Formats: sequence, structure tokens, C-alpha cells
Amino acid sequence: MKSGIFHVPYMKPSRSPREVFDYSVLIAREADQAGFADFMIGEHATQAWESVPNPEIVIGACARETERLRFAPMAHLLGLHNPGSLAIQTGWLSQVLEGRYFLGVGPGAYPRDAILRGQPEDLSEARPRRDEALKIMQKVWERKPFHHEGEFFKGGFPEEAEADDAGGEYHMMPDFSPWQGAENLEIAMTALSYGSASMKYCGANDFSPISFFGGLEVGRSHWDKYVEGQQENGYTPDRMRFRMCRDIVVADTDAEAKKIALRGGLGTCWENYLVPVYKQFKILQGYIDDSGTGVDLADLDMDWIAEHVWICGSPETVIEKLQKMNDAVGGMGEIVMNTHDYADDPAPWVESMHRIAEEVVPNIKDVTVSAA
Ligand SMILES: Cc1cc2nc3c(=O)[nH]c(=O)nc-3n(C[C@H](O)[C@H](O)[C@H](O)COP(=O)(O)O)c2cc1C
Repeated sequence: MKSGIFHVPYMKPSRSPREVFDYSVLIAREADQAGFADFMIGEHATQAWESVPNPEIVIGACARETERLRFAPMAHLLGLHNPGSLAIQTGWLSQVLEGRYFLGVGPGAYPRDAILRGQPEDLSEARPRRDEALKIMQKVWERKPFHHEGEFFKGGFPEEAEADDAGGEYHMMPDFSPWQGAENLEIAMTALSYGSASMKYCGANDFSPISFFGGLEVGRSHWDKYVEGQQENGYTPDRMRFRMCRDIVVADTDAEAKKIALRGGLGTCWENYLVPVYKQFKILQGYIDDSGTGVDLADLDMDWIAEHVWICGSPETVIEKLQKMNDAVGGMGEIVMNTHDYADDPAPWVESMHRIAEEVVPNIKDVTVSAA
């Protein structure tokens, strides 16, 4: 089992861009030292709590401060970009990182991000734009001349001119395709909804699935859809490619971990931001169903959330809860912790991160069932 980080970054709206940037690099440095495998950074333009519009710039800064950690935008919202530009930028960045890079792709969750780009607020274009954009990017990475005029995008690849007899270099084009070839670039696709069509598409194209945990039924449905897409296209699904995101805090005792969560940035973010967001995306119902408490969505308080939504406790408690999730979903390859705003006093959060990567995740047993 690998451990990963999802840095949304869920920082207080009062933080300046510089504070968010510096904290992001600090967390990446610690993640590298703690032994996390992956560090993934969200892309959002219009959510004050999710305040990194260009994950690739944070990734560039972190590249020089880390040695082993792999980075990914999670996710580049493909439909909101020019696909030709993004293909060149991501390919180039994967070369800068000499392979410590993979590409997360998603449609975008927030209507205001679409409005900003003059796209429909109901996000009806988000998924078809994502899929058309990705096809163009993959063609750009092939570096063969083409011209595309599709439903949403135009794109193409130019021909390199012949060298002249004088041996000048003006005709040359750089190779900004991904490090060691596009076929070696891992592409991960995000999913949230029950029975997600994105997961079937992800499987069909042999990308890696990544989910926010929204209850066991939703998690299982993501994998099932992924398998459908894989098998219909002759691929063999591998559960070790399945990543799942959670809010996790580890301390010496359950009480201490709960205190760090409730009184720190994690609790503040949930109380002021994520409870309404999770309600909007109907993610909390899955947790209620799993808890067996039968509590009404309107009556959830922060104690209930600490017990049933977050995974916080001593290493033993957290191992037990994560093992239960892994077994019940049927197996995954990476447990991803979401980061939160502990910028004023990072010590307990950083210690928790280290314990997650060093004491907890290595003790989660892989599920060794058949892939499907
Ligand atoms: C791990 C993960 C990361 C995500 N990152 C972003 C992001 O950076 N920006 C964004 O607008 N949406 C993000 N989303 C949400 C997706 O854009 C989209 O709403 C989701 O994948 C839709 O899933 P569905 O097709 O199953 O409904 C993320 C989702 C997941 C699971």
C-alpha cells in the first residue's frame, strides 16, 4: 500500500497567495521526507478555500526541494484550457521533473470555474470537453502533423522545416512530449458520483482511477465501473492503481488526534466549507449509510463528522479503520490524505503526516482478491 497527499489546498480564505504557495512547498518537503509516494495539487479558480489556480507552478517550485516524491495536478480541468498549450506544458514539466510527474485529469466541479471561461454553468460541456481535449493532447504528444476541428476545440501539430545546407538551427522544434514518451505518462482520472461514467471512461482508456471516499457503496461502484471499461477494451484491471482520498489525523491517542482535527485547520475547513460542499455534492449520505447511525443529514454535528467522516486516532485506531475501508471496498493501491491549513502551527500536522506515511500505511494489508 502506498501513501499519497492531495493538497487541495483547503486554506483559509484570508491566506494570501504567497502564504498558500509557501505552505504548499513546506508540506511537499515534509511529504518527501516522510516517504509519501505522490503529491497531488488541485486546480481551482473561483473557490476561496481551494486557492491554487496553477498547480504546475507549485509543482515546479517543489521539484527543487524534493527528491523522490511524484507530483500531479489533480486535476487539470481539461475543458477549461487550450489542449495544445496544455499538452506542451505538461510534457515539458514531466521532463523537468525527470519522470516524477503524472497527469490528473477531471472535468471541473464548480460552475463558477466554467462561467469564468464562458462555458455553461450547468457543467453540461465539462465531460465532453475533457474527453475531446485529452484526445488532442495525446495527438500533440505523438509529434506528427495534424489539424483538428472538433465540437469544442481546434488543435494541431506543425511540421518541422527541413534543415538548410548552412546547418542553421532555426528550423528545429523542441520535443516537449512527456518524459520517456507519452506511453510512459501515467494519467489518472477523478470520480465522485455513484456509478461514475468517468470511471468507465477511465477504465476504457487504461487510465488510473482516483476517488474521494463517499461511502463504501460509492467506492465499490467506482471500481466496478472501472473494471467494466477495462474488460470491454481488453485490459486487465489492477487494484493497485486505485487511489482513494480521506481526511486522516494521527497522534499518540484517539483523544489527542481528535483534538488536533477539531480545533485545527481540518475542523475549521469542514465547519465553514466542506460540510456545505459535501452536502451539495451529496457525498455525506454514503457516510451516514456506512455508520448505521441513521442520523438525519440536517443533524450532523462536528463530533459525528470526526467519528464517522474523518479517520483520526492513534496509529492502531487509524490502521484498523483504514484496513476496514480497504477490505470493504475490495482493495486499493494508495491511500491519499487530504491536507489542511495548519500554517500557523504546522508541528502537529506535520507529525501526523509522518506517522501516516511511516507507521500507518505500511501496516495496511493489501487485499489479494482477483482484480474484478
Ligand atoms: C481526487 C479528486 C481531485 C479533484 N480535483 C479537482 C480540482 O482540482 N478541481 C475541480 O474543479 N474539481 C476537482 N475534482 C472534481 C472533478 O472535477 C469532478 O467533479 C469529478 O471527478 C466528477 O466525477 P464524476 O464524473 O464521477 O461525477 C476532483 C475530484 C477528485 C476525486
